[in-house]
This record gives sequence, C-alpha cells and structure tokens, in this order.
Amino acid sequence: MAEAMKGLSRSHKCAELSKENVGERVTIMGWVQKTRNTGGLIFADIRDISGLVQITFNEEKLGSEAFEKAYKLRSEYVVAVVGTVMEREGGVNKKLATGEIEVLAEELRVLSQSDTPPFPIEEHSKTKEEVRLKYRYLDLRRPDIQRNIIMRSRVAAVVRQFLIQEGFLEIETPMLCKSTPEGARDYLVPSRVHQGSFYALPQSPQIFKQLLMCSGYDRYFQIARCFRDEDLRADRQPEFTQIDMELSFVDVDDVIDLNERLIAKVFDEVLGVSVPLPIPRMTWAEAMERYGSDKPDIRFDMELTNVTEAVRDCEFAVFKGAIENGGTVRGINAKGQGTMPRKKIDSLVDFAKDYGAKGLAYIALAEDGTYKSSFAKFMKDEEMSALIEAMKGESGDLLLFAADKNSTVFSVLGALRVELAKRMDIIDENIFKFIWITEFPMFEYSEEQGRYLAMHHPFTMPMEEDIDLLDTDEPWEARAKAYDIVLNGTELGGGSVRISMNDVQEKMFKALGFSQEEAYERFGFLLDAFKYGVPPHAGLAFGFDRMIMLMTKAESIRDVIAFPKIKDASDMMSDAPGTVDDKQLEELGISISDSKQ
Ligand code: AMO
Ligand code: AMP
Repeated sequence: MAEAMKGLSRSHKCAELSKENVGERVTIMGWVQKTRNTGGLIFADIRDISGLVQITFNEEKLGSEAFEKAYKLRSEYVVAVVGTVMEREGGVNKKLATGEIEVLAEELRVLSQSDTPPFPIEEHSKTKEEVRLKYRYLDLRRPDIQRNIIMRSRVAAVVRQFLIQEGFLEIETPMLCKSTPEGARDYLVPSRVHQGSFYALPQSPQIFKQLLMCSGYDRYFQIARCFRDEDLRADRQPEFTQIDMELSFVDVDDVIDLNERLIAKVFDEVLGVSVPLPIPRMTWAEAMERYGSDKPDIRFDMELTNVTEAVRDCEFAVFKGAIENGGTVRGINAKGQGTMPRKKIDSLVDFAKDYGAKGLAYIALAEDGTYKSSFAKFMKDEEMSALIEAMKGESGDLLLFAADKNSTVFSVLGALRVELAKRMDIIDENIFKFIWITEFPMFEYSEEQGRYLAMHHPFTMPMEEDIDLLDTDEPWEARAKAYDIVLNGTELGGGSVRISMNDVQEKMFKALGFSQEEAYERFGFLLDAFKYGVPPHAGLAFGFDRMIMLMTKAESIRDVIAFPKIKDASDMMSDAPGTVDDKQLEELGISISDSKQ
C-alpha cells in the first residue's frame, strides 16, 4: 500500500549527508537500491539523483509495525525516511560518498511500490542496449547515465552564461519551416490547412539566423533541435541538438577566437580540464595530405606519405595504373607491426575495401633486414629500397599502401590510420586534442548526383582571393571561408563566413547549377532580405550531443540523450513512428499506398 508524503518535507538529498550532519534529524526520499536483513537490523541503501545513503531500521527504535514495513521493502520501492544521522557503526564504506554515516530511521513511509525491474539499476550495466532502451525510464535511473544527463545540463548552463556575457541574445526559430539548405533528407510534416503541402523540420536554423543578422540582432545563439533523415551511426541521431550561433560584422578570426574561449570555459568549468589557446589550425588541404581526413585525430602521428614519385616508373600495374589515371600512391608506416600475422593483414585489407579500396599493398620489414611483400615480385630491388626509404621504413615496420584517385586514397588511409592506432593501442584516451580545420573547398563532387554540391552550404563565402575562380571553368578550385572544430577525430562543429554580396551569391548559384528562379524558389525570402541592407556575418554550430559524448567519454551519442532513437530511427520505448487513424489521414488529404499497408 502506498502512503502519502503529507506532513513530510525532504530536508536533504541522499548524498548531501556527511559527518557534519551527525546528530541532525533529517528527512530523505528516494528509491530502495537494495536491502540487507541481519536479524534484528535491516539496512537499506536509498538512492536519489545525488547518490546513495544507508538507512538502518532498528525494531526497537521504529516499532514493530514500521519494522514490518521495512522488512517488506524491495528494490525500486519509493520511500520517505525520517531519522537521525549517525556515524557508521559497521565501519566506513570508502566506496560510498556517504560511507562515513548512516541514518537511523524513526519513521518510514512507502510512497510507491515497484514490480521487479527487468534489469538491475546499477552502474556499468551489462544489460543489452535494446532492453535498456525499451525501459529507458529505468535506464535513466542508472548513475552513469544520470551523470551524462547532468553534465549535459551543466554544459548548456555554462554555454548560455558565456554567450550572454559576450552580448548574445537567445532567440528561438521555427520548427515548422520550408526546407533548409544543409543537404540531408528532410523530415516532412503534412499541412492540414494546405492539403498537399508540407512543412520541413529544420535541419538547422541556418536561414533564420542569417535573417536575424539582417534584422540587426547582431549576436544570436540558440540551443537548437535539428532534424536530419540520414543513415544513423554512433555519432548521429535523426534529431539532435546544436549550439548554434551567428554574429554580424565579423570575419573568420573573430568566430574562431570567441568559440575557442567558449570551449576553454566549458572544459575548465565542467571537467577541470585546461584547453591551451589558441587551438592549432590547419588548412583542409594540409589535413588531407597529412592525415587523409578533414577530421584528423591528432592524438597520435602515423601520418600519410605520398610515395607517387618514388614509384612513378615502376611496372607494378596497380601503382602504375593509378598514377596514369591521375591518382596517387600513398602509404602509412605502422611502426613495429612488421610481425603482424597474415590473417590480421588480410583483415586490414578487408577494412580498406569497406572504404572503397580495391586492395592494400604491403611490405612487412623483418628484424633481419629481409621483408615480405604482396607486390615485390612486380618491382625491381632498387625500387623497393627507394620506396622503403621514402616511407622511413625500419626493421620491424609494416608499410601499407593505397593506390587510386586521391579522394579514395585519402578516405582509405585516413580510416586505416585510425583503425591501426586503435589496434596498436597507441591512443591516449585521457587527452583532448582540438584542431581547427580551415579553408575547406567550396564544392565537393557527389558521386550519387553526378555533380558538384556546396561542401558546407550555398551561402558560404569564398576566400577573397578565390572569388574570381567562380567565373572560370574550374570554380571547383575555390576555397571557402569555412571552418570546422575537430576533437579527437570527431567533427564537433562547423561554420562559415556567409556571402553578403549579391553578385557573389549569384556566381555561387551559377556554379552550383541553380538558375536564378530555382534559387528564388528555395531561398527567395533570404535573397530578398539581402536587398535591404545585409551586414557581413558569420557563424558556427557545435553538435551539442557529440560534445557531451566526448566530454563524458560515452561510446555513443545515445548515452547522452535522454530519449534517443536507434539505428532505424525508431524509439524502442514509445514505438514511434506509428500508424495514425484513418480520420487523421483523411483530414490531411493523405492516403497510404497499398504496398506500405
Ligand atoms: P553542420 O551541418 O556541419 O553545420 O552541423 C553542425 C554540427 O552538428 C553536428 N551534427 C550532428 N550531430 C548529431 N547527429 C547528426 N545527425 C548530426 N549532424 C550534424 C556535428 C556538426 O559539426 N548550419 C550549419 C552551421 C553553420 O554554418 O553555422 C550546420 O548545421 O557536430
Ligand atoms: P594483385 O596483383 O591484384 O593481386 O595485387 C597485388 C597487391 O596489390 C595485393 O596485395 C592487393 O591487395 C594490392 N592492391 C590491389 N589494388 C590496390 C590498390 N588500389 N591500392 C593498393 N594496393 C592494391
């Protein structure tokens, strides 16, 4: 039977109690973690958001009726206990923050009973994620998840405080909008009033924040929900949160300076970690050349080496063919891995193939100066020596090569470098290495669509010295005033200076193959707004969930979102998405095609 808490008022959270409270009469409320019965005494650990405290029920003190109630307590019952804080009789429990004390109960109320939960509510749960997500409300009781959610709230508070101090205004933008330009698939919401028309949920507040700049709100921020219907991975959700901002009358350096101070403040206040400023910067071209990636993990070296010149004249068809087709040959030196068994090397080849490689050529250098190689038979001895030298190969090293068009070589070796580092266990998990990647290309080729797309979005400003390239046959060479902030190999955020000059915007649309009409159809209101006095402006958005994932060292962003979705974008707990009544569909003028019913 559940009892009311009438007349009781919580005086402390469980883990707020310490030796300083000894002798005080306190009232605590929470969930029963576990009970132990030692004949005359019953002990119960009570848990709330702050942690645990031990309660002692003594029949003499409590009376037999209440003691009977204590006897019947089970895990996850919700209770209120009034009692006196005492030093622990049974010795200090060093594992517990409240391990020096216990509360000797004088009154017990059972506020709610509980069925046996489907899994124990404990730290480092071994329960399968599907089960935990189905019962997310129980999973969220576990202390490790609670710490993540608490940290998330603290980071949001520090961010708000910092940005408001810097003169930013927090402004909300609509959820029901027209399609935005981030390039993923939209989530659509049908309109009842305008049948056959759809709102798109925002992929980001991009257009609205630029409009706010036109309206004179010269420093805007929002902790904004964004929706993108794309394939999910460990660091992607269909709805996620950005720390989104836009500033007027600024250039690249202003945005970078402000945001690295923001990062330093968050890491200092929340984690006690000092981030040395300025954060290093690297151009996109250099990052690709050295790490094969625009989100390099710089906690370890193992950089790529371009060996195209060393093998240019060889007869090995794989290398020769790639070079003749305008590609390159590049390699990675996995130090000390020369004795890697064949099977493991084969698994690296398979890994490389997942990233588009046709194969992976290798040289395994033995301690005695000899080597094994998958392609030595196609090469002259002196060509092999030149190649090993170009790779700074030493006895015991494993040299791995990819030959292909540049973009494939980079994506293969970029991913392989990280995979090798994980297998070699050379990544220091306790450090945070930030890097800004700057000067992104304006455009990127989409194999899927067979044309060039804006790499960031179509409002991104080219670098001044590259504006004229937009008028040439090769606008693809132009670099953008776009920047990403990368932490430990994850893209934490990105942004750009925006185009605020009409002629440049027109050139950009032309280069992207949009006619003026098409551009108007999609972004007309923004282009119109720009006719009435637009300040130069720039901005950035952090992936808030990713930031918390990295700060908490969680394995997935699901662990830092209260109610996340799984890989197929469904919610295991509520079963969303679900079907709706015929009447609702009728009102919207929507019918479901037979094959989907
Ligand atoms: P962008 O598309 O780079 O830029 O997004 C900014 C940051 O948001 C995070 N992010 C995601 N996090 C979780 N799940 C997802 N599906 C997901 N997609 C993106 C990433 C990314 O760096 N409007 C621009 C910003 C600007 O130019 O100011 C934008 O949205 O951490
Ligand atoms: P093959 O002559 O096709 O058996 O290839 C010889 C070696 O080159 C094998 O180890 C292949 O895995 C490797 N290889 C094949 N294609 C490529 C490529 N594009 N880049 C690097 N190595 C490759």
